[in-house]
Formats: sequence, structure tokens, C-alpha cells
Amino acid sequence: MRKRGLDPDQVRKHLHEARERDLSYENGDIMSSMCTTPHPLAEEAHRLFLETYLGDPGLFPGTSQLEDKAVEKLANLLNLEGGDGYITTGGTESNIQALHIARNLSNSDEPSAVVPESAHFSFDKAADMLQIDLKKAELDDDYRADPSAIENLVDGDTAAIVGVAGTTETGQIDPIRELGEIAEENDAYLHVDAAFGGFVLPFLTGAPRFDFSIDAVDSVTLDPHKMGLSTIPSGGLIVRDPDALNAIRTDTPYLTSEDQYTLTGTRTGAGAASTYAALETLGRNGYRENAEICMERTKQLARRVENSRNLELTVEPVTNLVSIGLDDPGKAAEKLDEKGGKVSVSRLPEALRVVLMPHVHQETVERFVEELEEVA
Ligand SMILES: Cc1ncc(COP(=O)(O)O)c(C=O)c1O
Repeated sequence: MRKRGLDPDQVRKHLHEARERDLSYENGDIMSSMCTTPHPLAEEAHRLFLETYLGDPGLFPGTSQLEDKAVEKLANLLNLEGGDGYITTGGTESNIQALHIARNLSNSDEPSAVVPESAHFSFDKAADMLQIDLKKAELDDDYRADPSAIENLVDGDTAAIVGVAGTTETGQIDPIRELGEIAEENDAYLHVDAAFGGFVLPFLTGAPRFDFSIDAVDSVTLDPHKMGLSTIPSGGLIVRDPDALNAIRTDTPYLTSEDQYTLTGTRTGAGAASTYAALETLGRNGYRENAEICMERTKQLARRVENSRNLELTVEPVTNLVSIGLDDPGKAAEKLDEKGGKVSVSRLPEALRVVLMPHVHQETVERFVEELEEVA
């Protein structure tokens, strides 16, 4: 560390130089991310609550109340009256905490969790931290969880079954109702990871049910910092039964609270405030419009891919993600990268993965298809 601090303008210059090296959502450079430019009011709320933290809620009762309201609204979006939860740092923390609850509620000495092979790698982290066995079930031909493959892995030690609503790699939706039947028959906890789909599916006509309207669902992850247009870090973990949180509660001596069930201690209030702001200002109509626009561009890209000789859709998109099959997707991604557009390569299936977030405009899709055809 320097002995004497630098002139603020010089530090500022360093900050701007670093920022200029970043890719930008608005230039259409980023097509691989599930994050996007936040809503301006969410950004304003984030700034206003920058120094607040919820690890010691008695110091920030106003912020704490906003978090409660945000949680209530998220639960309501997921068709749950009552319930509880909190604003996390994102899908990873929510998934870790869901398995944490399930493990602590389990009677098994060697608890395990059964997830579809498409589950996000946050479940690997969770299993490692929680010392539970993670069993991965094969998918069906459309890259969704296959209920019979899940059932085959379930046994007396199964603490949790996980379904995904909007998978990371193909955007697919698992058959949550069927997974619920398996969970109920085997007395297992059912967690739904809707980190991506949670702000899309409720607004699409005819989308399959994935939320608390299915009785067996115990908890849901949904991320305001993805399609919820809130700022990073804003995740959501919602549980049906508020008592479930007691399974992960810790006493907090010396704080204004008696206990907490969050993973982190000092945690920002900015995520809660910006989530509240986005939910209130957009309302259901605003989110519906956002989801519909993203789906329109998704279909635009999907049709272009279908009509192209060297490209194929690995699966018909059901959320705003297009998975494109072609020869050597890794090489194609590298070449596209050189042209300035960042896409990623999925593992299952091995394909190009394009996420049509709100910042990916119609012209960006057109430009991307032309570049992709050249590369392919
Ligand atoms: C389905 C799903 N779950 C969880 C996560 C993890 O979310 P985060 O990166 O916010 O922790 C992701 C990230 O893309 C995801 O796609």
C-alpha cells in the first residue's frame, strides 16, 4: 500500500481506464450473461442504500422493512401467500441455503440431494460445503429433468430433490409437478431453482407451472439481478414454511437481532432496496412487457438459426435463451469473440449459448446472425 494517498483525480483516472476495458451491455457486446443493465430506479435505490447493511437490522429498520416487503412481493409473484425468505447475493447463495435447510431437516446420517444433470454448478458448491452427496440424474431428449431418472436415484437418504425452471445452458423448464410427486412419496424436500426463469415464466402465456402453486414445492430461488432488472447483488430465496428457516438459524450475540439465518453476516441493504424499487416501479405489466420483448428477440434468433444451413436449434427455446448447434462451437465462440460479441459454449449439449437479455436489441440479433453465419 502507498504511504501517501494519490490525488483523487488520478485514482479516478485508473478507475475509468479499468472500466473502459470492460465489455458493455448496451453496445451489444455481451450475449452470454443472465445479467443486464438494471432499471434506472433500481440503480438510484442502490446508490441511496449503499452504506446500509442488513446483518444488524436494528440499525437500519427502514431498509429491513423494505427487504420484508420485497420478499412478500417475490413470494406473491410465485403464488405464495405468507412464506418467508430473504434477499441473497444471488442464485448461488439461495441454492446453497436451500440445500442447507433440506440437509438440516433431514433425519438421514448421510443425506444426499438429487439434481438433474443440468443443475447449475452452485449445487456442486453447496454439496461440497454441506458435505452431502450430490446425485446427478440424466436428462430427457429435450434437456429437461427426466422424472424416472430422478426417481431411480432417490432413496431413504435423499434430503432434497431439485428442479430447475430456466436452466443455465438451454433455458429449459423441468417437470416440477412430477418431481413434486416423487418428493412427496419419498418425504424429500423439493427446491426449485428459478434463478433465471422466475422473472420470465410468470409472464408468458401457457408456460408450465413451476412455483408454490404446486403443493410439494418447499422453496424457490429467483434472482432479481437477472431478469428482475435489479442491481447486483440481488438474489431471492423464498420458503413456503417460515419455520424452515429455523433449521439454519444461528444466535447473533452483540447485534440488534437475536439470530440470523443468512449465509453472510454483513450484507448489503442495496440489493433489497433496488429489488423493491424494480418490483414497485415495473409491476406485473412492466415485467410482462420485458419478458415478451426478450421472447420476441429469442424467436427472431431461433427462426434465423432454423433457416441457416450450418446451424441448428438444439431445442426449441422456452425462455429467452437460444442454444445453437454447429460444428466446433468452441472455435465459433472464439471467432465471434474476435468480432466483439461475447457468447458462451454450453457443455450439455455442446453448443453456443446465447441469452437474449433486454440489452440484446433486434439490430444486435441481426448483426450476430450475420457474423455467426460467416463463422459457421
Ligand atoms: C439456473 C441458475 N441458478 C443459479 C445461478 C447462480 O446465480 P448467481 O451467479 O447469481 O449466483 C445461475 C447463474 O447463471 C443460474 O443460471
